[in-house]
Amino acid sequence: MLDSHFFSYSDGTLCCDEVRLDGLAEQFGTPLYVISRQSLINQFRSFEAAFAGLPHFTCYSVKANFNLSVIRTLVDEGCGCDVNSGGELFRALKAGISPDKIIMAGVGKTEQEIEYGLNSGVLLLKSESVSELKAIDRVAGRLGKKANVAIRINPNVTAETHPYITTGDSKEKFGIDEAELGEVFGLFRTLPNLSLDGLDMHIGSQIFDPEYYVAATQKLLDVLDTARLLGFDIKWFDIGGGFPVTYDPQKPATPIDRFAEKLVPMLDGRGVTVIFEPGRFIAANSSVLLTKVLYRKRNHVGKEFFIVDAGMTELIRPALYQSHHEVISVKRHEDSVTADVVGPVCESSDFFARQRMIDNVREGELLAVLSTGAYAAVMGSNYNGRLRPAEVMVDGGEAKLVRRRETYEQLVQNEV
Ligand code: LLP
Repeated sequence: MLDSHFFSYSDGTLCCDEVRLDGLAEQFGTPLYVISRQSLINQFRSFEAAFAGLPHFTCYSVKANFNLSVIRTLVDEGCGCDVNSGGELFRALKAGISPDKIIMAGVGKTEQEIEYGLNSGVLLLKSESVSELKAIDRVAGRLGKKANVAIRINPNVTAETHPYITTGDSKEKFGIDEAELGEVFGLFRTLPNLSLDGLDMHIGSQIFDPEYYVAATQKLLDVLDTARLLGFDIKWFDIGGGFPVTYDPQKPATPIDRFAEKLVPMLDGRGVTVIFEPGRFIAANSSVLLTKVLYRKRNHVGKEFFIVDAGMTELIRPALYQSHHEVISVKRHEDSVTADVVGPVCESSDFFARQRMIDNVREGELLAVLSTGAYAAVMGSNYNGRLRPAEVMVDGGEAKLVRRRETYEQLVQNEV
């Protein structure tokens, strides 16, 4: 798993590509996100290869990792972007992507955000409610524009994943309910500034079983038939993201080809361009979080703690979703211990691993928390007055700083 993502041991020291991680910690300090540029490119290319048989357009879901250099790397490969807010649209544009390769989602876009999207000239605005469609029409009318819209359908398919990241179920806030579709199609007839160009869904994240995609795609294909019967010229068919990655070597992810084998025959020849919105699949294993062991302590019941200088402020996934992340030593050791790897934040949920066999590292040594390329830095916070870490991107033998470490002054700069 490590090797395939350009992280591997060389002479007993963990490296990213040709660069030693202990050297990076010395140069840039810890905690530090280390991103492999080649891993991002590889993942994007393997996704493209899997779906090569289908007319499609892959839009990287920027929410997974919105560092400008990450976006830029993928844009240079020909990738589009899926953004979920004005802020993400700003980032994507800053990274240099052409606006007609951006699709803009969001279950609650403000009129300001809608205006920003329309004025930027994004390819599609996705909408998830009747009220928002009316708002898009209003804003487009005010600007003298026609809005190219895709409607997000809630297919009512409950994908088995963590309950916080399943989205295609009728219990959730996402998408337009089947029962409302008649009204929605009617709106496109009456509201003059909307053009219905696409259908969209996203059933959740980290979905291992392709059958959930099959079930939901079938529902969306039925909607496509209805829309065409009603005379709508649907060009884009967006089946969202959610493709899985391996966090735990004991639970390897379903290979992307298994999804393509099911989906390509279903979608080929339908006269639409299929949009995919992978986030995690592209970014998750492209990065590790380097952290230093500050202290070790053992309590009277024999429990061992490694207290490290990164915490839930840099990776909240274990606390929020009980997610597994591998934690490995940067310098290989012969012996190991069972320990909890915990951060410095004042919360009992501030941990990376519990009761895990881990190399018997000494205080001052480095650990790497794996698979922190998606939903780590972007979900980071300043809780406890913590500074957002630096980020470094490695390509071959070269490491470049792509985000500076925050300073104390920056913590208060907006306060008056
Ligand atoms: N498209 C839409 C509309 C989405 O809401 C998402 C993710 C994606 C695409 C990308 O999904 P992916 O391919 O990355 O699975 N913070 C959670 C994940 C939240 C996902 C939110 N939506 C986590 O750390 O597991």
